[in-house]
Amino acid sequence: MAELKASIAGGSGYAGGELLRLLLFHPRIEINQVTSEQFAGKFVYRVHPNLRKVTQLKFSRLAELEPCDVLFLSLPHGTSMKNIEMYKKMAPKIIDLSGDFRLKNPADYEKWYNCRHPAPEMLEKFVYGIPELHRAEMKHASFISSAGCNATVTILALYPFFKNNLVDAARTVVEVKVGSSEGGNKANEGSHHPERSGCVRSYKSTGHRHIAEMLQELSFSNPIQIHFSATAIDIIRGTLATSHVFLKENLAEKDIWKLFRDFYGKEPFIRIVKDREGIYRYPEPKLLAGTNYCDIGFESDPHSNRLVVISAIDNLMKGAAGQALQALNIMHGFDETTGLDFPGLHPV
Ligand SMILES: NC(=O)c1ccc[n+]([C@@H]2O[C@H](COP(=O)([O-])OP(=O)(O)OC[C@H]3O[C@@H](n4cnc5c(N)ncnc54)[C@H](OP(=O)(O)O)[C@@H]3O)[C@@H](O)[C@H]2O)c1
Repeated sequence: MAELKASIAGGSGYAGGELLRLLLFHPRIEINQVTSEQFAGKFVYRVHPNLRKVTQLKFSRLAELEPCDVLFLSLPHGTSMKNIEMYKKMAPKIIDLSGDFRLKNPADYEKWYNCRHPAPEMLEKFVYGIPELHRAEMKHASFISSAGCNATVTILALYPFFKNNLVDAARTVVEVKVGSSEGGNKANEGSHHPERSGCVRSYKSTGHRHIAEMLQELSFSNPIQIHFSATAIDIIRGTLATSHVFLKENLAEKDIWKLFRDFYGKEPFIRIVKDREGIYRYPEPKLLAGTNYCDIGFESDPHSNRLVVISAIDNLMKGAAGQALQALNIMHGFDETTGLDFPGLHPV
C-alpha cells in the first residue's frame, strides 16, 4: 500500500524519465501526476518507450498540478526559482533537480549563473542534495536541492581529502568526461548526430557552473580552488572525473584506503574500486549505467606528491534521479536504498 503521492514536474525530460522508471517500482510511492507542456494528454510511454506496459499514466500540464505529498521539479534552470511559491502550495516536500537552489549565497547566482536569484530567502531552506554529506539535515528537511552531476562525482571523490585538510587547497585539478544525456533531451547544433558522435570535445575548460557547488561543499577553514574542465565524449550516460590532488604530506596506499573506508565504508552507494588485475581496475561509468553507485578509485604518483582520484557515476542516476530518490527515502524515514538496490548490467 503506497504511503506517498509523488508528482514530477518536467517528466518528459531525461532526468524526469529516470525518476519515473524508479518511482514506478518504489513500494511506498504512488505517482500522482507527471507534467509536460509539449506532451500533455499523451501517454508517458510515448516519450519514455522503456515504460511501455509498465504504466498507463498520461502527462498533465503544469497548470493542472494537484496537491501531493512530494513534488519533484525536473525543469530547466531558472524555472523552479521563478515559481517556487506556487510549487510550495502544491506539496509540503519538494526535491528540485535543477541548479536553482543549490548555492547558499545569493551572490553566487550572479557570479556563476549570471542572474539575480528571485527567491534568495529560500536558499538556506534547501538542503544540498548529496546524501553522503548531508544525511542528518535531510532527515528533517522540507526542501532538497539535488546536486549537479559533475559536482556530485567530483565532490564525492575529493570530500575526504578536503574535510581532513590533507591536500594543497589551491592546487586541485579536475577533468570530467561527460556523456550526451547530460545536456537533456532538447536537440541543438552540438548534439546533432554527425557532430556529436565520435567527439572528444572540450566544451567547458574553465568557468563551469558546477565549480560553485564544489567550492561550497569542499571549503572548510581555508579558501580553496578547484581547477575544473569538462570534455564531452562519445557515450550517452556516464560521468568520469579524474582529480589530481597534491598531498601536503605523503600518504601510503593503506592510509588512503583507510581514509576512504572511514568516510564511505558504510555508504550503500559508494564503492572503492582499485583492483590489481583485470580490465576494470578503476571506476568506469559504463558499468554504472542505470545504477545509483558512485565508484571511486585512486593511484599515487611515485614521482611526486600527486594523488589521482578517479570517480564515476551515471549522471541520470547518482547524478540526478537516483540521488533524488535516495534523498526522498532519507527525508521520509524509509530505508535509504529502497527502490535503488540493484546492480548494473554486464556486459553492456
Ligand atoms: N541530464 C542530466 O544528466 C542532469 C543531471 C543532473 C541534473 N539535471 C537537471 O535536471 C533538470 C532536468 O534535466 P533534463 O536533462 O531532464 O532536461 P530535459 O531533458 O531538457 O527536460 C526538461 C523538462 O522540463 C520541461 N520544460 C522545459 N521548459 C519548460 C518550461 N519553461 N516550463 C515548464 N517545463 C519546462 C520539459 O517538458 P516539455 O518541454 O515536454 O514541456 C522537460 O520535461 C535540469 O535542471 C538539469 O540541469 C540534469
